[in-house]
Amino acid sequence: MQVVDQKYKIQGINLTDLATKYGTPLYVYDGEKIRSQISALKAAFSSVTMRIKYATKALSNVNILRLVKDSGVGVDAVSIEEVKLCLHVGFEPGDIMYTPNCVSFQEIQEAVDLGVMVNIDNIPMLEHFGHAYGDKVPLCIRLNPHILAGGNAKISVGHIDSKFGISILQLKHVTRVVEAYKLNVVGLHVHTGSDILDAEVFLKGAEILFDAANSFKDLRFLDFGGGFKVGYKQGDITTNIQELGEKVSMAFKDFCRSYGRELEIWFEPGKYIVSESGYLLVKANVIKSTPATTFVGVDSGLNHLLRPMMYDAYHDVVNISRTDGPDRVYTIVGYICETDTIAADRRLKEIKEGDIIAIKNAGAYGFSMASNYNSRPRPAEVLLLGGKDYMIRKRESFDDILKHQEMVSW
Ligand code: LLP
Repeated sequence: MQVVDQKYKIQGINLTDLATKYGTPLYVYDGEKIRSQISALKAAFSSVTMRIKYATKALSNVNILRLVKDSGVGVDAVSIEEVKLCLHVGFEPGDIMYTPNCVSFQEIQEAVDLGVMVNIDNIPMLEHFGHAYGDKVPLCIRLNPHILAGGNAKISVGHIDSKFGISILQLKHVTRVVEAYKLNVVGLHVHTGSDILDAEVFLKGAEILFDAANSFKDLRFLDFGGGFKVGYKQGDITTNIQELGEKVSMAFKDFCRSYGRELEIWFEPGKYIVSESGYLLVKANVIKSTPATTFVGVDSGLNHLLRPMMYDAYHDVVNISRTDGPDRVYTIVGYICETDTIAADRRLKEIKEGDIIAIKNAGAYGFSMASNYNSRPRPAEVLLLGGKDYMIRKRESFDDILKHQEMVSW
């Protein structure tokens, strides 16, 4: 988003015009930013065979999926519904990795029937898999490396108290099951969490994965999950993708030499690909001063963007209706009957009723975590590509709120 001729624009498109055209609240995605993130990641790993499996859960609109597909990216899906969405969009089954947790074996079978690679994250499912398929269906195993990483406990998932993956301490047990059923393990996976800053964390994960890999002789890839940290506020330190690429590629090449075969290295970024592309445009309904604070109540809330309330996540906000005039300090809150503070104590251009506020970094886990709480419809979504705007999801209506409810007689 840039200020051009006193207007906030993306790809030359005036954002307040989009708010007028489509209404608010409105999710807007900069498709060119998604493309450039993908290119940067590819460039950083150009010396190894790297595959990107976009974490569908971050933003799963079919047009976004098609955009990443057209950039030569595969997908990681967490539910059978995400698998079906990706197939619907035209991904080949071979481009889809299915990484469920705590699902029934029936759902895993459904994925196998669809021809999709399954990433198994517990020993009972590994045994079911062996019993059902033996050496017939290749699979990946998700290991929990016991690394506590990142600054936010809610999104750090590779530590010893996390429900995800098979403990690295159970590797012997895993290899016993693999041998007993002659399982065809072609990949090993770790994911330490989201908002992981440091290349060192990936290198630590890599060491654990390399060590474990020596117990499996037919591997084709090692998957390091996602979690690259993006910038949420000015001056934020972010994962240095270039440095990550250099360090991890070097370690990976050394490993491949000792393993005796060239493997593929996989990553499953969600935030890195879509977070910064997204803006949630909301309208100031009321400016309300209390003895302590000036609140700006907007036409959205935790029903549309849960991250600030669920993770105490910081999202930058901008009054895009004004580029000059005085600054004031505001707390932006939603219209939901909860304390849904979107942004506290922010210095912004003076806000008047009807002004449009852009909430940044709304591409990842924004719409995909939205709900109908307080019986509010979910926003529309607009994709900007090549200087044009496309409505990729209609705004929900009151009819949608009623859609699956039955008035029964008793
Ligand atoms: N791979 C696996 C197995 C994952 O569980 C996740 C995220 C990713 C990749 C992608 O992680 P990313 O690159 O997006 O950080 N809703 C939270 C984040 C939850 C992440 C869940 N798994 C948030 O808004 O911060």
